Amino acid sequence: MVKVGVLGATGMVGQRFIQLLDSHPDFELTALAASSRSAGKRYEDATTWYLNEEMPEAVKDIIVCDTTPEAMDNDVDIVFSSVPTELAAKIEKDFAKDYVVASNASAHRMKKNIPLVIPEVNPEYLDMIDAQQKENNWDGFIVTNPNCSTIALTLTLKPIVDNFNVKGIRVSTMQAISGAGYNGVPSMAILDNLVPYIGSEEEKMESETLHLLGNYDGEEVKPADFVLSASCHRVPVIDGHTEAVFIELEDDFDIEDVEDKMKNFKALPQELGLYSAPENPIVVKKENDRPQPRMDRNAGNGMAVTVGRLRKDQAFDNSLKYVLVGHNTIRGAAGASVLNAELINDKIL
Ligand SMILES: NC(=O)c1ccc[n+]([C@@H]2O[C@H](COP(=O)([O-])OP(=O)(O)OC[C@H]3O[C@@H](n4cnc5c(N)ncnc54)[C@H](OP(=O)(O)O)[C@@H]3O)[C@@H](O)[C@H]2O)c1
Repeated sequence: MVKVGVLGATGMVGQRFIQLLDSHPDFELTALAASSRSAGKRYEDATTWYLNEEMPEAVKDIIVCDTTPEAMDNDVDIVFSSVPTELAAKIEKDFAKDYVVASNASAHRMKKNIPLVIPEVNPEYLDMIDAQQKENNWDGFIVTNPNCSTIALTLTLKPIVDNFNVKGIRVSTMQAISGAGYNGVPSMAILDNLVPYIGSEEEKMESETLHLLGNYDGEEVKPADFVLSASCHRVPVIDGHTEAVFIELEDDFDIEDVEDKMKNFKALPQELGLYSAPENPIVVKKENDRPQPRMDRNAGNGMAVTVGRLRKDQAFDNSLKYVLVGHNTIRGAAGASVLNAELINDKIL
């Protein structure tokens, strides 16, 4: 068994890590870290539990430690990081001296030699790890997963980009409130309402998606050469991001062909049979009123993205549009890091 720890273990994403790691066949959760407000307490006493699933018995008595490598001195192999981004820049580097860090935070996502990975999309970016270790003189390393709305979008784009010439993409998101953490969006701001702005989200979607769908030549990543424009909005949904996607292709196409490529899409995690990999990363629904967050966010145990309303766009040449739903704290956060760690465990450790 590989011993793992969670940084930010008491938070929204941290709790998802704990739920997903409970009874994992390859990973044993042995260490939980959070702020000094929680350190020294039993996990059950330090945490206000937000998930519908019960808190696993195995974590209740673990004493939460400070978020330093010294405090986590029980030879953990992998740490999952869900600390606030402004802290992650330093904390994750401190841990990477000795540990493998699988991070959710944005602090290191677009840095040279730090892989930003979705295992179904760009597993070859893990080849950057050697250069990262040499450059920093680290025994460990950092691997990151993208922002929650980017992961869902990019998974659905992968079979399209691989099979058609994409000219441009527009995406409009309707994002769940759990994406901002428990204290992120006040109830007075979101109930009976919609907030048409999420700080830095559009920039992250635009840059991370092109980076993930780009090309790593052994030295650097050349981003994908189409254009992408995002508009991001917060809606009163607890879990599950919805996105309306509009794609312009260079050439005419058959919409059934696009549907086939999406629903038959499989990649390395499915070939390797990684534990958290969904059998079908993209689920295509034919009903006109799907996907919906409440009904579709748990597809593939929250690791699949559901696509619906796939159709030709009658207003623009060579264009199509669809709606997707992805679980933002599972495929969009903790589940993404766990799948990255499973790939690393299979290929590198
Ligand atoms: N929510 C999502 O859907 C999502 C998706 C993708 C990425 N992310 C990223 O994941 C990270 C965590 O997000 P979240 O939604 O889980 O936030 P959250 O619910 O606010 O949880 C924050 C966690 O960080 C800990 N923390 C706060 N200050 C700290 C400090 N000074 N030192 C050490 N630990 C500290 C908190 O511990 P205490 O309880 O002790 O304060 C808590 O465990 C962020 O970087 C976020 O951008 C979130």
